[in-house]
Formats: sequence, structure tokens, C-alpha cells
Amino acid sequence: MTAQLNPRGDVAVLVPAAGAGVRLGPGRPKALRLLAGEPLLVHAVRRLAEARSVHTIVVAAPVAEVDAVRELLAPVAPVSVVPGGAERQASVAAALAAVPAGPEIILVHDAARALTPPSLVEAVAAAVRAGRPAVIPVLPVVDTIKEVDAGEVVLGTVDRSALRAVQTPQGFLRSVLTSAHTAAGDPLTDDAGLVEKQGVPVSCVSGSEYALKITRPFDLALAEHLLASGG
Ligand code: CTP
Ligand code: MG
Repeated sequence: MTAQLNPRGDVAVLVPAAGAGVRLGPGRPKALRLLAGEPLLVHAVRRLAEARSVHTIVVAAPVAEVDAVRELLAPVAPVSVVPGGAERQASVAAALAAVPAGPEIILVHDAARALTPPSLVEAVAAAVRAGRPAVIPVLPVVDTIKEVDAGEVVLGTVDRSALRAVQTPQGFLRSVLTSAHTAAGDPLTDDAGLVEKQGVPVSCVSGSEYALKITRPFDLALAEHLLASGG
């Protein structure tokens, strides 16, 4: 039996949370690092569970932490926990395999984007429900972007107006995500990349600055500050 949140919901959320967090520095796997006294994964799952459309949440946990993650999340929301893989893509595939029959919209959401608001979850799900087969939240790129060679010498300046920084949750029709993962080759860092390779159009919706990916110590400090200031 897979745990359900809202039985009327039409969305399953896969939460890859099996990464080590190497760029955050030495310590526990990133999803279990503390932010304002609670693991990043708890923050992320609590916000997902607040989104009314969410029927099911499946977390891919570090292999050695599956039981610990189950215990940790039991008081937060009804979730299923499966062992993750060596690459993010394998973790997503493991979670996808555990989704029960029912939800026809699948969202994939990094545990590391712990402060993502429920409203963004609903916005992505709504765009899929409205007929888009694949939907990603994006922000405009604010820095000037240069392309460089192996010696860090500038080759040129990229036109920033056509670039977008991509966040999660990324949303898909279930059939689209399933075929993309079945056909997947070399691991990519996001699921929309797999879907693009299948020739499926991927649409953008406005992302949220709160959906920042906590990657380096600075990001964790920023997230602490955002929470402390009531964000
Ligand atoms: N992830 C996963 N399985 C992996 C690798 C990553 O489920 N084998 C998850 C992470 O837990 C995270 C998300 O994918 O929620 C985005 O990955 P990233 O931010 O790169 O996290 P880590 O891989 O943990 O960090 P690092 O690359 O610094 O080690
Ligand atoms: Mg990583």
C-alpha cells in the first residue's frame, strides 16, 4: 500500500533525496542536513504536502538511510520511501517505479530545493493539467554569461535574453515521463532533458526565488536567513 495524502489529488511527486551533498562540505547526506533545526527533506516534504493536488509523495533516500528517512517523515506526511541510486536519474527512476496507479501528473522535485512554496507546485501541476506534456519552472538569468576555453580565456558573450535558469518541481504527463526514463541513456541533471530528447515540447512557467537549490554553504546560510525573516 502506498501512503496517500489527498485521495482526490491527481499528482504524484517524486523527491530525489539520495545525494551526498559533496559541495555542501563534509557531513551527513544533504537531504538530512539541518536548516533551522530540521532536515532539508522535512522542509521540502512539508511544503509538498501542503499542495492540495498532491495525492502521493515518493522519496528516494540514501540507501543506508531508508529506515531513518521513513521514521523522520512519518510525523510530517504520509510518504513512500525507496532506496535511491548512484545518479540522480537512477533515484528518480526508482521513485517512479513506486508510484501507484491513479495520479496521471508526475512532478519531480529536488529535496535540496527545501523552501519551494506549495503555490509553485500547484502552478506546475496546473500547466500540465491544462494540456502541456512537460513543464519546468524557470527564472531569467541575471548575470552576464561568457563562454570560455579550457584555459579560462573568453571565447564570447552569450545572449542572456534567451537563457533561463531551471528549477524544480518539473511536471509531466505520466506517460511522457515513463517513456523518457525507459529510453534514457547517459544520466542528465534534470528530467526535462530526457523528455526533450524524445522530441516532446517542454513549456516554461515562472519559477520562484524561494525554490533555490541549496548546493553550497552560502545557499544554506541564505535559506536560514529567508526562514528567519519569515519567508
Ligand atoms: N540526488 C539523488 N540521487 C543521487 C544524486 C542526487 O536523489 N544519486 C538528489 C539530491 O539528493 C538532490 C537532487 O538530486 O535533492 C539534486 O542534486 P544535487 O543538488 O546535486 O545534490 P547532491 O548530489 O546531494 O549534491 P552534490 O552534487 O554537491 O554532492
Ligand atoms: Mg549532485
